[in-house]
Amino acid sequence: MTDPVVLKVAVLASGTGTNLQALIDQVHGRDGVRIVAVGSDKPEALALERAQAAGIETALFPVSDFNGNRAARDGAMADWLRARGVQLVVLAGYMQILGPAFLDRFADQVINLHPALLPAFPGLDAVNQALAYGAKVFGVTVHFVDEGVDSGPVIMQRAVELPDARVLDDVLPHVHALEHQMLPEVVRLFARGAVRIASTHPRRVLVGPLAVLPER
Ligand code: GAR
Repeated sequence: MTDPVVLKVAVLASGTGTNLQALIDQVHGRDGVRIVAVGSDKPEALALERAQAAGIETALFPVSDFNGNRAARDGAMADWLRARGVQLVVLAGYMQILGPAFLDRFADQVINLHPALLPAFPGLDAVNQALAYGAKVFGVTVHFVDEGVDSGPVIMQRAVELPDARVLDDVLPHVHALEHQMLPEVVRLFARGAVRIASTHPRRVLVGPLAVLPER
């Protein structure tokens, strides 16, 4: 019997890994998705323990192992993922910029989760940036990764109105709840071949039925 078609997914994470856990719990080993590799730049990342507990192969790529050479680190990481047949790379709290040594090897195959409604508040500390700005609507963006900072085409965005938010704890539970729904949903869509960049518009991402219908 031949194996059913499965999308081989890798996750890169630098921190706690609650989004990796959401993927493990909601899509790993079902819906045509298998997480085959989890990589990190941080030896202490709890995400590594979560992966190991789920029987997923892990590897560490701290830039210090590559004499501070980020391109060499990115190249080694790309080799490791390619050797495992990875077709989609999910950045879930991966706090490093990926350069061309990585992105050229995974064209349109790398997605990122960002805790704000891009293009507002890119970069680090997005929720605090939004609070400092006095925002009343917060949210989450899942987007393709390009060589800029949180600048690639948007795949999915969801918002939550929190007009009285003052501190991080007023916002984070809402943002995390959105993230833990959205990321598995987007990975499922990729497994169904239901995400594609429009041929006529490089920033427009067609999702769901739109991705399999002729463009208009
Ligand atoms: C998530 O909130 C994600 O949006 C954010 O890091 C957190 C990781 O949480 N990513 C960024 O800020 C990227 N610029 P987790 O480790 O519990 O999944």
